[in-house]
Amino acid sequence: MQVPSKREKKDFVQQKFSAVTDRYDFLNSLLSLGVDKLWRYNTVKALRGLNGPILDVCAGTLPLSKEVFKQTKSEVVALDFCFDMLEFGAKRLGQIEKTHIHPICGDGERLPLTSDSFDGFTVAFGIRNLADLPKGFSEMYRVLRPGGKGAILEFSRPSMPIFKDLYRLYLHKILPVIGGMISGDKEAYVYLAESIQGFYSQGQICDMLKECGFEQVSFRPMTFGIVTLYLCQKPR
Ligand SMILES: C[S@@+](CC[C@H](N)C(=O)[O-])C[C@H]1O[C@@H](n2cnc3c(N)ncnc32)[C@H](O)[C@@H]1O
Repeated sequence: MQVPSKREKKDFVQQKFSAVTDRYDFLNSLLSLGVDKLWRYNTVKALRGLNGPILDVCAGTLPLSKEVFKQTKSEVVALDFCFDMLEFGAKRLGQIEKTHIHPICGDGERLPLTSDSFDGFTVAFGIRNLADLPKGFSEMYRVLRPGGKGAILEFSRPSMPIFKDLYRLYLHKILPVIGGMISGDKEAYVYLAESIQGFYSQGQICDMLKECGFEQVSFRPMTFGIVTLYLCQKPR
């Protein structure tokens, strides 16, 4: 399967996440053997000390939004363009979470939000899905207050010999089969594998963030480079 072109990508992604909404969280935990929770924990930990509000872009069923609220006690705006994912997550929020996590259905490349209004932003497993990544980054930059910080978690490609081949095998042969069986949508997991394989390198992502104006740009691979945490700051 070919990863769709820029033009088709938005519709494709929206439709794919709608199709797997009710099994998304379960599959996430299963396919990452539960380590996804630790990745999200570390992502938010990197932003500790911010007062909020914090924007969670590509929030999906809100797992990262909940972690942001848990650790920072800030107001969280959770944005995603897939209504089904947001609705599924919103229905499962606890009473206190409901008053502090505010889901918004909108496009990450055209944020319906005021400039300079957030202390921080987070994205987990979202940037790979954006059709126009530089546009998404410049929107995240626009809505951050000067001095505000961003934490971006995304899949990457391990570089360790042997492990990288085993991981590639898992990604292309095992993940689509298990993901397809449980979600009923094998294509979504073929897309996941191919989008990870064809995604920008860590250096390219850092360059893109710098080109948008961010400073203090750094990255930290986690779990042998299966995922990478990117950090950035808007100049004061
Ligand atoms: C893999 S899910 C990640 C969900 C969540 N952040 C997590 O930690 O599991 C990616 C999400 O990005 C959303 N998405 C993709 N492109 C988007 C865009 N242009 N604007 C808003 N949301 C988008 C999808 O609808 C999907 O819910």
